[in-house]
Amino acid sequence: MHLTAKEESILNGEQGETKQQLMEILVGIGKVFGADEMVPVRSAQVSGASYKTIGEWGLKWLSSLDAHATVPAVLNPVGMDRIRWEEMGIDPGFAKKQLEVISAYECLGIRLECTCTPYYLNITEYGDHLAWSESSAVSYANSVIGARTNREGGPSALAAAIIGKTPKYGLHLVENRKPAIHIHVEDEPKGADASWYGALGYLAGKISGNRIPLFSGIRPGRDQLKNLGAAMAATGAVALYHVQGITPEARVFSYNTEGLESIVIEADEVESLFIGEQVDAIAIGCPHCSPDELMNLASLLDGCTVTKPVYIFAARDVIKRENEHVRKIERSGARVYADTCMVVSPALERYDRIMVNSGKALSYVPTMCGAGAVIGSTKACIQMACTPDI
Ligand code: F3S
Repeated sequence: MHLTAKEESILNGEQGETKQQLMEILVGIGKVFGADEMVPVRSAQVSGASYKTIGEWGLKWLSSLDAHATVPAVLNPVGMDRIRWEEMGIDPGFAKKQLEVISAYECLGIRLECTCTPYYLNITEYGDHLAWSESSAVSYANSVIGARTNREGGPSALAAAIIGKTPKYGLHLVENRKPAIHIHVEDEPKGADASWYGALGYLAGKISGNRIPLFSGIRPGRDQLKNLGAAMAATGAVALYHVQGITPEARVFSYNTEGLESIVIEADEVESLFIGEQVDAIAIGCPHCSPDELMNLASLLDGCTVTKPVYIFAARDVIKRENEHVRKIERSGARVYADTCMVVSPALERYDRIMVNSGKALSYVPTMCGAGAVIGSTKACIQMACTPDI
């Protein structure tokens, strides 16, 4: 792997022990995956931020580092809203440790915006090289924006944030971004909301595994694409997908289906996942809500009082920008939390069955929260939330 003189000097420890250690991580990964060189990144998104997942060892490692991010970098969701954690019912012992993790990242120059939707905060454009780690964010960056990122682990994303570069291999190279399987969707319903595409992604991820799918037969908008990709990254290992005539690289390269294994998914198969069972809580915002999604929730909840706990998750910056809508939502009794989500927070572990509008949450809630999960459209989730308990 070719290193510039500056990269060599960091590797030799001339800029301190932390940078040397982080450069070793990047060079080690680059060698394993056959990278020829490093590439500068425009931004980083760093996972390994919830104390629920990194524990004491992770906290100790972070606290031992001494360096500063050189590119814009945000954190992945953590185990709680760092301001409203008491209201979420978070144990004070856990909160203390979580705040220590957050402050360790702050010392490293990582912006304390804990979100899986960094594309709502930092400008990210077609062709940008990134070092993002949360799987749905990676999928969105690659597929919906046409930027280029591998799915980084927490330490490698942190290393890229501080060094400003990442090894150039995998999805940083155009030749590795071609589709490998064709998925045709039959009878896409008109006006289906994002949850339908989440359910489609739930099925398509299982079929695709780690292959790059090329979809035909669907015309999703951005929030629908977000849900589709998040679910495929959860049930499969899909970090990039294309939709004919919709996603940027499918348009630029005019990918066709010739020579690809071809699979058909019928709308009925997708709909069969919507079973409408009773639940004891509702969780929305996986991935974190967009401004449009918060606006839609405010209108669906207008004049209603929720009868079950309703958790809505979004980036703090988006919540601030959409203050009016958030206030309307909270008047119903629903709560909009920042920094965290239904999967990484221990707050939702107290429920037996949770209704979600996301294919990714449908896949992760049972394993990460120990609760059953049911998927419904956003409208059905709100109807469930406002239905009196029998
Ligand atoms: Fe984001 Fe948590 Fe879902 S990190 S994609 S809201 S599981």
